[in-house]
Amino acid sequence: MQPVKSVSKFLARTTNVIRGDRQARFRLLLVLARWLAPNYRFKWPAMAWWNDETFNAYLDAFEESGGLNTDRRWNLYQLLRLVDGVDGDTAECGVYKGSSSYLICEVSTYAQRARREHFVFDSFEGLSAPDEIDGVYWRRGDLTVAEETARANLIKFENVRFMTGWIPERFEEVANRSFAFVHIDVDLAQPTLDSFGFFYDRLSPGGVIVCDDYGCTTCPGVTAVIDGFLSKRPEKMLALSCGGGFMIKGVRTTTLPSPARADHRASAARGRLPA
Ligand SMILES: C[S@@+](CC[C@H](N)C(=O)[O-])C[C@H]1O[C@@H](n2cnc3c(N)ncnc32)[C@H](O)[C@@H]1O
Repeated sequence: MQPVKSVSKFLARTTNVIRGDRQARFRLLLVLARWLAPNYRFKWPAMAWWNDETFNAYLDAFEESGGLNTDRRWNLYQLLRLVDGVDGDTAECGVYKGSSSYLICEVSTYAQRARREHFVFDSFEGLSAPDEIDGVYWRRGDLTVAEETARANLIKFENVRFMTGWIPERFEEVANRSFAFVHIDVDLAQPTLDSFGFFYDRLSPGGVIVCDDYGCTTCPGVTAVIDGFLSKRPEKMLALSCGGGFMIKGVRTTTLPSPARADHRASAARGRLPA
């Protein structure tokens, strides 16, 4: 009796999958994933933001719709809304093709804050040489892109100032300014610490620093240097579930135990993502 029931259940499910039943296909995906990548954590697919036309048009423009970074892009888009009432300029350290800077400038425009200057810091020669703390995932020169690509992608924004060079060489040129929002995305410990230290001191009350690499096992040095820097300050990083984290200047934050840290170090030593 039992095997017949199972076979008919299996056939019914297969028919649903073939007919294009979305729920049946999702369940099949989960079954396959449990076999192929047992520790991978899926989430419910009922996300309203997946249907946001404005945001999807932005992802399409940067050819990121099918990529693995859409959650982090969405989080950045939302976090930018926190600084509507905060004075100061905006900055990005690690610009690559300009996709996050585009969002930063776009939200400043929505907020009628287009008079904020947006400073972009990048070598456009990719990453510098990783230190021991960075593990073995990254290599010098990774993520190189032509400066012209970023310039072309940001051309519609008149307030963008290119500060091309190795971080922190050109920071002094903005030393007298204050900032409302800073995005740090340079993957390695030293330029992250240089950027965090410089901009933390110049962040207006209520201003936000987002670091794209915080909490990612591919960038163990980034998490370590930021936590070290903030250990003597009232604000701490809030780690986002899809990677990345942020802090708000002047907002005291509870310190949690971090069991992930040992895992970061172990996977960095192995030079790959945790299984
Ligand atoms: C992950 S990409 C940035 C991605 C970008 N935020 C985006 O939205 O797509 C890292 C960038 O950091 C830059 N970079 C890394 N280390 C740097 C350093 N020490 N000085 C200047 N630029 C650096 C690289 O050239 C690269 O463009």
